[in-house]
Amino acid sequence: MELAIRSYHPSDLVSIYNICLLTGNSGKDASHLFNDPNLLGHFYAAPYAVLEPGLCFILTVDKKPCGYILGTQNSENFAVNSEKHWFPVLRPQYPLDKKYKSAMESRIVQLIHEGYKPKPGLLNYPAHLHIDILPVAQRKGMGRKMIETFTGKLRSLNVPALHLEVGKQNKNAVLFYQKAGFEIIHEYEFSIAFGMKLEN
Ligand SMILES: CC(C)(COP(=O)(O)OP(=O)(O)OC[C@H]1O[C@@H](n2cnc3c(N)ncnc32)[C@H](O)[C@@H]1OP(=O)(O)O)[C@@H](O)C(=O)NCCC(=O)NCCS
Repeated sequence: MELAIRSYHPSDLVSIYNICLLTGNSGKDASHLFNDPNLLGHFYAAPYAVLEPGLCFILTVDKKPCGYILGTQNSENFAVNSEKHWFPVLRPQYPLDKKYKSAMESRIVQLIHEGYKPKPGLLNYPAHLHIDILPVAQRKGMGRKMIETFTGKLRSLNVPALHLEVGKQNKNAVLFYQKAGFEIIHEYEFSIAFGMKLEN
């Protein structure tokens, strides 16, 4: 089994949607919670790959995509850009008053209607990221390497700091971020915000 990290290619978008769904339930498969398999990726993954492809990296197993790390170098700009170029066309496809398969599916529809909103308490950490790896490639040191690839790219862009948010239920990911050099910067009711300062 050969694992490698490479830059994003537009043909990866379908895999990104799949990986997002297969890891979307606190790190486990979320397929059973969605009628629409693309919905989760519409919010948490695809807009980053499309709007900031230079900050998207793909993990491959024997050349096939099995993970990604993606995000934005500036969360406030991402809020503006995603409002201009991403969310408006999706909203009419997912009416708020429709019945969805699960509370989670309804919640993602709601998020798509709200759009991405940067949290004021995290603005000193302007970049943010999402990372997801399929079980076949987990616990092999690749997540750590993907964080290093992502932060290396941010350093080259002179970005001073980054953050991410993780659900408290996703205990594996919480342990991972602590080991990968992040510190807790905020605790919310259901999630934790981790941050990392970058020396340029
Ligand atoms: C969380 C995730 C990104 C971690 O990546 P990974 O490649 O599995 O982790 P690594 O092998 O690079 O581990 C790096 C460190 O974190 C620790 N770690 C990783 N997963 C862990 C777990 N499940 N429990 C305890 N420690 C863990 C490792 O022990 C390692 O520390 P070490 O080098 O001192 O041994 C990956 O497992 C994943 O994508 N999971 C499913 C989706 C998900 O939860 N994404 C995050 C959403 S916020």
